[in-house]
Amino acid sequence: MIKIGIVGTGGIAELHAKEFQKIPDSSVISACDVSKERLNFFCDKFDIKERYNSVEELLQKSDVDAITNTTPDAFHKDISIKAIENNKHIFCEKPLAENYEDALEMCAALKGKELVNMVNFSYRNSSGYQELVKIVKSGKIGNVVHLDANYYQSWLTSKYWGDWKEEEKWLWRLSTKHGSKGTLGDIGVHIFDFASFPVGGIKKINANLKTFKSKGEKIGEYVLDANDTFISMVEFDNGAIGTISATRFATGYSNRLELRIFGDKGAVKIEFDDPIREGSKLLFTDDINREFSDRKDKLEWKKIETSTTLNNFERFISSIKNKTPYEPDFARGAEIQKILDKCIESDEKKSWVNL
Ligand SMILES: NC(=O)c1ccc[n+]([C@@H]2O[C@H](COP(=O)([O-])OP(=O)(O)OC[C@H]3O[C@@H](n4cnc5c(N)ncnc54)[C@H](O)[C@@H]3O)[C@@H](O)[C@H]2O)c1
Repeated sequence: MIKIGIVGTGGIAELHAKEFQKIPDSSVISACDVSKERLNFFCDKFDIKERYNSVEELLQKSDVDAITNTTPDAFHKDISIKAIENNKHIFCEKPLAENYEDALEMCAALKGKELVNMVNFSYRNSSGYQELVKIVKSGKIGNVVHLDANYYQSWLTSKYWGDWKEEEKWLWRLSTKHGSKGTLGDIGVHIFDFASFPVGGIKKINANLKTFKSKGEKIGEYVLDANDTFISMVEFDNGAIGTISATRFATGYSNRLELRIFGDKGAVKIEFDDPIREGSKLLFTDDINREFSDRKDKLEWKKIETSTTLNNFERFISSIKNKTPYEPDFARGAEIQKILDKCIESDEKKSWVNL
Protein backbone atom coordinates (compact mmCIF):
# COMPACT_ATOMS: atom_id res chain seq x y z
CA MET A 1 0.00 0.00 0.00
CA ILE A 2 1.42 3.41 -0.98
CA LYS A 3 0.70 5.90 1.82
CA ILE A 4 0.02 9.46 0.70
CA GLY A 5 0.09 12.80 2.53
CA ILE A 6 -1.77 15.75 0.97
CA VAL A 7 -0.25 19.21 1.48
CA GLY A 8 -2.76 22.02 0.84
CA THR A 9 -6.40 20.99 1.27
CA GLY A 10 -8.13 23.47 -1.08
CA GLY A 11 -10.07 23.00 -4.31
CA ILE A 12 -7.90 20.65 -6.35
CA ALA A 13 -6.93 18.59 -3.29
CA GLU A 14 -10.48 17.19 -3.34
CA LEU A 15 -9.81 15.61 -6.72
CA HIS A 16 -6.47 14.23 -5.47
CA ALA A 17 -8.13 12.68 -2.41
CA LYS A 18 -10.93 11.16 -4.53
CA GLU A 19 -8.58 9.77 -7.17
CA PHE A 20 -5.95 8.40 -4.76
CA GLN A 21 -8.66 6.85 -2.57
CA LYS A 22 -10.12 5.11 -5.65
CA ILE A 23 -6.84 3.32 -6.40
CA PRO A 24 -6.68 0.00 -4.49
CA ASP A 25 -2.90 0.28 -3.96
CA SER A 26 -2.94 3.72 -2.38
CA SER A 27 -4.27 5.28 0.78
CA VAL A 28 -4.38 8.94 1.86
CA ILE A 29 -3.30 8.74 5.50
CA SER A 30 -2.52 12.38 6.34
CA ALA A 31 -3.06 15.98 5.28
CA CYS A 32 -1.89 19.44 6.23
CA ASP A 33 -2.98 23.01 5.62
CA VAL A 34 -2.14 26.39 7.11
CA SER A 35 -5.89 26.92 7.56
CA LYS A 36 -7.21 24.74 10.43
CA GLU A 37 -10.79 25.24 9.33
CA ARG A 38 -10.06 24.12 5.78
CA LEU A 39 -7.98 21.17 7.04
CA ASN A 40 -10.71 19.87 9.32
CA PHE A 41 -13.45 20.30 6.72
CA PHE A 42 -11.36 18.38 4.20
CA CYS A 43 -10.21 15.61 6.54
CA ASP A 44 -13.76 15.06 7.82
CA LYS A 45 -15.02 14.85 4.25
CA PHE A 46 -12.39 12.29 3.20
CA ASP A 47 -12.07 10.51 6.54
CA ILE A 48 -8.39 11.37 7.02
CA LYS A 49 -7.25 10.89 10.61
CA GLU A 50 -3.78 12.48 10.70
CA ARG A 51 -4.02 16.29 10.49
CA TYR A 52 -1.08 18.70 10.59
CA ASN A 53 -0.59 22.43 10.38
CA SER A 54 2.67 22.41 8.43
CA VAL A 55 4.48 20.24 5.94
CA GLU A 56 7.44 20.02 8.34
CA GLU A 57 5.22 18.49 11.01
CA LEU A 58 3.64 16.10 8.53
CA LEU A 59 7.03 14.95 7.25
CA GLN A 60 8.28 14.47 10.78
CA LYS A 61 5.30 12.58 12.20
CA SER A 62 3.49 10.83 9.36
CA ASP A 63 4.76 7.56 7.87
CA VAL A 64 4.00 8.49 4.25
CA ASP A 65 5.67 7.15 1.11
CA ALA A 66 4.60 10.06 -1.07
CA ILE A 67 3.48 13.66 -0.90
CA THR A 68 0.98 15.31 -3.20
CA ASN A 69 1.58 19.06 -3.28
CA THR A 70 -1.70 20.90 -3.87
CA THR A 71 -0.72 24.28 -2.45
CA PRO A 72 -0.83 27.49 -4.53
CA ASP A 73 1.98 27.95 -7.08
CA ALA A 74 4.19 30.04 -4.76
CA PHE A 75 4.67 27.06 -2.39
CA HIS A 76 5.35 24.32 -4.94
CA LYS A 77 9.12 24.64 -4.85
CA ASP A 78 9.81 24.69 -1.11
CA ILE A 79 7.27 22.04 -0.18
CA SER A 80 8.33 19.68 -2.99
CA ILE A 81 12.02 20.06 -2.12
CA LYS A 82 11.28 19.34 1.55
CA ALA A 83 9.42 16.19 0.54
CA ILE A 84 12.28 15.09 -1.72
CA GLU A 85 14.88 15.74 1.01
CA ASN A 86 12.82 13.44 3.23
CA ASN A 87 12.89 10.77 0.49
CA LYS A 88 9.21 10.96 -0.39
CA HIS A 89 7.90 10.36 -3.90
CA ILE A 90 6.40 13.60 -5.12
CA PHE A 91 3.31 14.51 -7.16
CA CYS A 92 3.14 18.29 -7.62
CA GLU A 93 0.42 20.47 -9.03
CA LYS A 94 1.15 22.69 -12.02
CA PRO A 95 2.85 25.01 -12.73
CA LEU A 96 5.88 23.20 -11.31
CA ALA A 97 7.36 26.44 -9.95
CA GLU A 98 7.23 30.20 -10.28
CA ASN A 99 10.05 30.29 -12.85
CA TYR A 100 12.50 28.10 -14.76
CA GLU A 101 15.35 28.61 -12.31
CA ASP A 102 13.24 27.35 -9.41
CA ALA A 103 12.00 24.44 -11.51
CA LEU A 104 15.61 23.44 -12.20
CA GLU A 105 16.34 23.58 -8.46
CA MET A 106 13.49 21.14 -7.93
CA CYS A 107 14.93 18.81 -10.58
CA ALA A 108 18.40 19.11 -9.02
CA ALA A 109 17.02 18.07 -5.62
CA LEU A 110 16.03 14.75 -7.21
CA LYS A 111 19.58 13.94 -8.36
CA GLY A 112 20.85 10.68 -6.88
CA LYS A 113 17.43 9.77 -5.47
CA GLU A 114 15.17 7.16 -7.00
CA LEU A 115 11.96 9.02 -6.36
CA VAL A 116 8.97 9.10 -8.68
CA ASN A 117 8.29 12.74 -9.52
CA MET A 118 5.30 13.95 -11.49
CA VAL A 119 3.68 17.25 -12.36
CA ASN A 120 -0.08 17.19 -12.83
CA PHE A 121 -0.66 18.15 -16.46
CA SER A 122 -4.24 16.89 -16.20
CA TYR A 123 -5.05 16.80 -19.88
CA ARG A 124 -2.69 13.83 -20.28
CA ASN A 125 -5.62 11.96 -18.68
CA SER A 126 -7.56 12.11 -21.96
CA SER A 127 -7.28 8.81 -23.83
CA GLY A 128 -8.25 10.60 -27.07
CA TYR A 129 -5.32 12.94 -26.56
CA GLN A 130 -2.91 10.05 -25.91
CA GLU A 131 -4.07 8.47 -29.19
CA LEU A 132 -3.64 11.79 -30.99
CA VAL A 133 -0.05 11.95 -29.71
CA LYS A 134 0.58 8.43 -31.06
CA ILE A 135 -0.90 9.30 -34.47
CA VAL A 136 1.23 12.43 -34.80
CA LYS A 137 4.40 10.69 -33.61
CA SER A 138 3.80 7.74 -35.98
CA GLY A 139 4.01 10.11 -38.95
CA LYS A 140 0.49 9.25 -40.21
CA ILE A 141 -0.27 12.91 -40.84
CA GLY A 142 3.19 13.47 -42.33
CA ASN A 143 5.43 16.28 -41.14
CA VAL A 144 3.61 18.69 -38.87
CA VAL A 145 3.50 22.13 -40.48
CA HIS A 146 0.89 24.10 -38.53
CA LEU A 147 -1.10 23.95 -35.29
CA ASP A 148 -3.67 25.93 -33.30
CA ALA A 149 -4.22 25.37 -29.59
CA ASN A 150 -6.62 27.29 -27.36
CA TYR A 151 -7.61 27.04 -23.72
CA TYR A 152 -10.82 28.85 -22.84
CA GLN A 153 -12.14 29.66 -19.33
CA SER A 154 -14.75 32.27 -18.42
CA TRP A 155 -14.54 32.83 -14.67
CA LEU A 156 -13.84 36.55 -15.13
CA THR A 157 -17.13 37.01 -16.97
CA SER A 158 -19.39 34.32 -15.49
CA LYS A 159 -20.24 32.91 -12.08
CA TYR A 160 -20.27 29.32 -13.33
CA TRP A 161 -17.44 28.42 -10.90
CA GLY A 162 -18.40 31.00 -8.26
CA ASP A 163 -17.70 34.71 -7.82
CA TRP A 164 -14.00 35.46 -8.37
CA LYS A 165 -14.34 38.77 -6.51
CA GLU A 166 -15.26 36.99 -3.30
CA GLU A 167 -13.16 33.84 -3.17
CA GLU A 168 -9.50 33.61 -2.22
CA LYS A 169 -8.92 30.68 -4.60
CA TRP A 170 -9.56 33.01 -7.57
CA LEU A 171 -8.00 36.14 -6.10
CA TRP A 172 -4.49 34.65 -5.61
CA ARG A 173 -4.60 33.63 -9.26
CA LEU A 174 -4.85 37.33 -10.23
CA SER A 175 -1.97 38.59 -8.10
CA THR A 176 1.74 38.37 -8.98
CA LYS A 177 2.63 39.16 -5.36
CA HIS A 178 0.88 35.91 -4.43
CA GLY A 179 3.06 33.96 -6.84
CA SER A 180 0.67 33.76 -9.79
CA LYS A 181 1.81 34.13 -13.39
CA GLY A 182 -1.81 34.79 -14.34
CA THR A 183 -3.54 32.98 -17.17
CA LEU A 184 -0.15 32.05 -18.59
CA GLY A 185 0.94 30.21 -15.41
CA ASP A 186 -2.49 28.81 -14.56
CA ILE A 187 -3.80 27.41 -17.85
CA GLY A 188 -1.11 28.46 -20.36
CA VAL A 189 1.07 25.85 -18.66
CA HIS A 190 -1.47 23.16 -19.66
CA ILE A 191 -1.95 24.32 -23.22
CA PHE A 192 1.81 24.53 -23.90
CA ASP A 193 2.22 20.95 -22.67
CA PHE A 194 -0.88 19.87 -24.64
CA ALA A 195 0.30 21.48 -27.88
CA SER A 196 3.99 20.62 -27.76
CA PHE A 197 3.98 17.03 -26.41
CA PRO A 198 2.84 15.56 -29.77
CA VAL A 199 4.98 17.87 -31.92
CA GLY A 200 8.26 18.41 -30.03
CA GLY A 201 10.36 21.29 -28.75
CA ILE A 202 9.62 24.96 -29.35
CA LYS A 203 12.48 26.90 -30.98
CA LYS A 204 11.17 30.47 -30.70
CA ILE A 205 8.15 32.32 -29.44
CA ASN A 206 6.41 35.68 -29.68
CA ALA A 207 3.84 36.28 -26.93
CA ASN A 208 1.46 39.07 -25.98
CA LEU A 209 0.14 39.00 -22.38
CA LYS A 210 -2.61 41.36 -21.32
CA THR A 211 -4.00 42.49 -17.96
CA PHE A 212 -7.25 44.42 -18.13
CA LYS A 213 -7.44 47.16 -15.52
CA SER A 214 -11.15 47.57 -16.30
CA LYS A 215 -11.89 44.54 -14.09
CA GLY A 216 -10.53 46.51 -11.09
CA GLU A 217 -7.08 47.04 -9.62
CA LYS A 218 -7.23 45.76 -6.04
CA ILE A 219 -9.46 43.65 -3.79
CA GLY A 220 -8.30 43.48 -0.15
CA GLU A 221 -4.65 42.40 -0.10
CA TYR A 222 -4.87 41.21 -3.74
CA VAL A 223 -3.47 43.56 -6.40
CA LEU A 224 -5.05 42.32 -9.65
CA ASP A 225 -1.95 42.65 -11.79
CA ALA A 226 -1.41 39.16 -13.28
CA ASN A 227 -2.25 38.64 -16.97
CA ASP A 228 -5.87 37.77 -17.81
CA THR A 229 -5.39 36.64 -21.38
CA PHE A 230 -2.54 35.82 -23.77
CA ILE A 231 -1.78 34.89 -27.33
CA SER A 232 1.45 33.50 -28.74
CA MET A 233 3.00 32.54 -32.05
CA VAL A 234 5.49 29.69 -31.95
CA GLU A 235 7.96 27.94 -34.22
CA PHE A 236 8.91 24.37 -33.36
CA ASP A 237 12.34 22.73 -33.70
CA ASN A 238 11.00 20.77 -36.69
CA GLY A 239 9.98 23.97 -38.52
CA ALA A 240 6.22 23.77 -37.86
CA ILE A 241 4.54 27.02 -36.82
CA GLY A 242 1.48 27.60 -34.68
CA THR A 243 -0.61 29.78 -32.43
CA ILE A 244 -1.20 28.96 -28.77
CA SER A 245 -3.49 31.04 -26.58
CA ALA A 246 -5.53 31.07 -23.37
CA THR A 247 -8.02 33.40 -21.72
CA ARG A 248 -10.27 33.77 -18.69
CA PHE A 249 -12.70 35.89 -20.69
CA ALA A 250 -14.12 33.14 -22.90
CA THR A 251 -17.80 33.65 -22.09
CA GLY A 252 -19.80 30.58 -22.97
CA TYR A 253 -16.97 28.13 -22.17
CA SER A 254 -16.14 26.76 -18.73
CA ASN A 255 -12.89 24.90 -19.34
CA ARG A 256 -12.43 24.18 -23.03
CA LEU A 257 -9.27 22.88 -24.67
CA GLU A 258 -8.94 22.71 -28.44
CA LEU A 259 -6.05 21.43 -30.51
CA ARG A 260 -5.74 21.13 -34.30
CA ILE A 261 -2.56 19.77 -35.81
CA PHE A 262 -2.01 19.85 -39.58
CA GLY A 263 0.67 17.77 -41.27
CA ASP A 264 1.62 17.64 -44.93
CA LYS A 265 -0.42 14.41 -45.34
CA GLY A 266 -3.31 14.73 -42.90
CA ALA A 267 -4.61 16.30 -39.73
CA VAL A 268 -5.89 15.52 -36.24
CA LYS A 269 -8.09 17.50 -33.89
CA ILE A 270 -9.52 17.14 -30.40
CA GLU A 271 -11.60 19.30 -28.09
CA PHE A 272 -13.18 18.76 -24.68
CA ASP A 273 -13.95 20.33 -21.32
CA ASP A 274 -13.24 17.34 -19.13
CA PRO A 275 -10.32 15.03 -20.02
CA ILE A 276 -11.81 11.90 -18.44
CA ARG A 277 -15.54 12.29 -19.17
CA GLU A 278 -15.29 13.78 -22.66
CA GLY A 279 -11.72 13.28 -23.77
CA SER A 280 -12.02 9.85 -25.39
CA LYS A 281 -12.77 11.05 -28.93
CA LEU A 282 -10.58 12.58 -31.55
CA LEU A 283 -10.98 13.33 -35.22
CA PHE A 284 -8.52 12.32 -37.83
CA THR A 285 -8.21 12.78 -41.58
CA ASP A 286 -5.50 11.57 -43.96
CA ASP A 287 -5.06 9.81 -47.29
CA ILE A 288 -5.12 6.30 -45.85
CA ASN A 289 -7.66 5.14 -48.44
CA ARG A 290 -5.43 6.14 -51.33
CA GLU A 291 -6.54 3.54 -53.90
CA PHE A 292 -10.20 4.50 -53.94
CA SER A 293 -11.05 7.88 -52.61
CA ASP A 294 -8.98 9.99 -50.33
CA ARG A 295 -10.74 10.80 -47.05
CA LYS A 296 -9.03 14.14 -46.90
CA ASP A 297 -10.04 14.99 -50.47
CA LYS A 298 -13.68 14.61 -49.44
CA LEU A 299 -13.03 16.71 -46.33
CA GLU A 300 -14.10 13.71 -44.23
CA TRP A 301 -12.96 13.32 -40.62
CA LYS A 302 -12.90 9.91 -39.02
CA LYS A 303 -14.03 9.85 -35.39
CA ILE A 304 -11.80 7.65 -33.25
CA GLU A 305 -13.18 6.50 -29.89
CA THR A 306 -10.59 5.32 -27.41
CA SER A 307 -10.91 3.31 -24.22
CA THR A 308 -9.64 4.89 -21.02
CA THR A 309 -5.98 5.47 -20.31
CA LEU A 310 -4.27 5.47 -16.90
CA ASN A 311 -4.70 8.90 -15.34
CA ASN A 312 -1.78 10.78 -13.72
CA PHE A 313 -2.76 9.59 -10.23
CA GLU A 314 -2.84 5.93 -11.33
CA ARG A 315 0.44 6.32 -13.23
CA PHE A 316 2.10 7.81 -10.14
CA ILE A 317 1.08 4.93 -7.89
CA SER A 318 1.85 2.27 -10.47
CA SER A 319 5.32 3.76 -11.07
CA ILE A 320 6.11 3.73 -7.35
CA LYS A 321 4.90 0.13 -7.01
CA ASN A 322 6.20 -1.39 -10.21
CA LYS A 323 9.00 1.02 -11.18
CA THR A 324 7.29 1.51 -14.55
CA PRO A 325 8.18 4.56 -16.70
CA TYR A 326 6.03 7.62 -16.21
CA GLU A 327 5.25 11.01 -17.71
CA PRO A 328 4.95 13.98 -17.19
CA ASP A 329 7.90 14.30 -14.79
CA PHE A 330 9.60 17.30 -13.15
CA ALA A 331 11.97 17.63 -16.11
CA ARG A 332 8.95 18.11 -18.38
CA GLY A 333 7.47 20.55 -15.86
CA ALA A 334 10.72 22.55 -16.03
CA GLU A 335 10.73 22.46 -19.85
CA ILE A 336 7.25 24.02 -19.88
CA GLN A 337 8.31 26.51 -17.20
CA LYS A 338 11.05 27.72 -19.54
CA ILE A 339 8.43 28.39 -22.24
CA LEU A 340 6.40 30.46 -19.75
CA ASP A 341 9.47 32.51 -18.79
CA LYS A 342 10.22 33.10 -22.48
CA CYS A 343 6.63 34.27 -23.06
CA ILE A 344 7.12 36.90 -20.35
CA GLU A 345 10.48 37.93 -21.85
CA SER A 346 8.96 38.17 -25.33
CA ASP A 347 6.05 40.25 -24.04
CA GLU A 348 8.45 42.65 -22.29
CA LYS A 349 10.72 42.98 -25.33
CA LYS A 350 7.79 43.02 -27.77
CA SER A 351 9.71 40.65 -30.03
CA TRP A 352 10.43 37.02 -30.84
CA VAL A 353 12.74 35.24 -28.39
CA ASN A 354 14.67 32.00 -28.88
CA LEU A 355 14.39 29.16 -26.44
N1 LIG B 1 -4.05 20.28 -12.66
C1 LIG B 1 -5.09 21.06 -12.72
O1 LIG B 1 -5.86 21.00 -13.67
C2 LIG B 1 -5.33 22.05 -11.61
C3 LIG B 1 -6.63 22.54 -11.37
C4 LIG B 1 -6.80 23.44 -10.31
C5 LIG B 1 -5.71 23.85 -9.56
N2 LIG B 1 -4.47 23.37 -9.86
C6 LIG B 1 -3.28 23.82 -9.10
O2 LIG B 1 -3.40 23.35 -7.76
C7 LIG B 1 -2.84 24.30 -6.87
C8 LIG B 1 -3.87 24.68 -5.80
O3 LIG B 1 -4.98 25.27 -6.44
P1 LIG B 1 -6.42 25.32 -5.73
O4 LIG B 1 -7.37 25.81 -6.73
O5 LIG B 1 -6.68 24.03 -5.04
O6 LIG B 1 -6.13 26.46 -4.65
P2 LIG B 1 -6.88 26.75 -3.29
O7 LIG B 1 -6.58 28.14 -2.96
O8 LIG B 1 -8.31 26.29 -3.40
O9 LIG B 1 -6.18 25.74 -2.23
C9 LIG B 1 -4.87 25.86 -1.79
C10 LIG B 1 -4.80 25.38 -0.32
O10 LIG B 1 -3.41 25.38 0.07
C11 LIG B 1 -3.35 25.88 1.40
N3 LIG B 1 -1.99 26.37 1.65
C12 LIG B 1 -1.43 27.54 1.29
N4 LIG B 1 -0.14 27.60 1.69
C13 LIG B 1 0.11 26.43 2.33
C14 LIG B 1 1.27 25.90 2.97
N5 LIG B 1 2.42 26.57 3.00
N6 LIG B 1 1.18 24.67 3.54
C15 LIG B 1 0.03 23.97 3.52
N7 LIG B 1 -1.11 24.44 2.93
C16 LIG B 1 -1.05 25.65 2.33
C17 LIG B 1 -4.42 26.96 1.45
O11 LIG B 1 -4.78 27.28 2.78
C18 LIG B 1 -5.53 26.29 0.65
O12 LIG B 1 -6.39 25.51 1.47
C19 LIG B 1 -2.38 25.49 -7.72
O13 LIG B 1 -1.00 25.40 -7.96
C20 LIG B 1 -3.15 25.33 -9.02
O14 LIG B 1 -2.46 25.84 -10.14
C21 LIG B 1 -4.28 22.48 -10.85
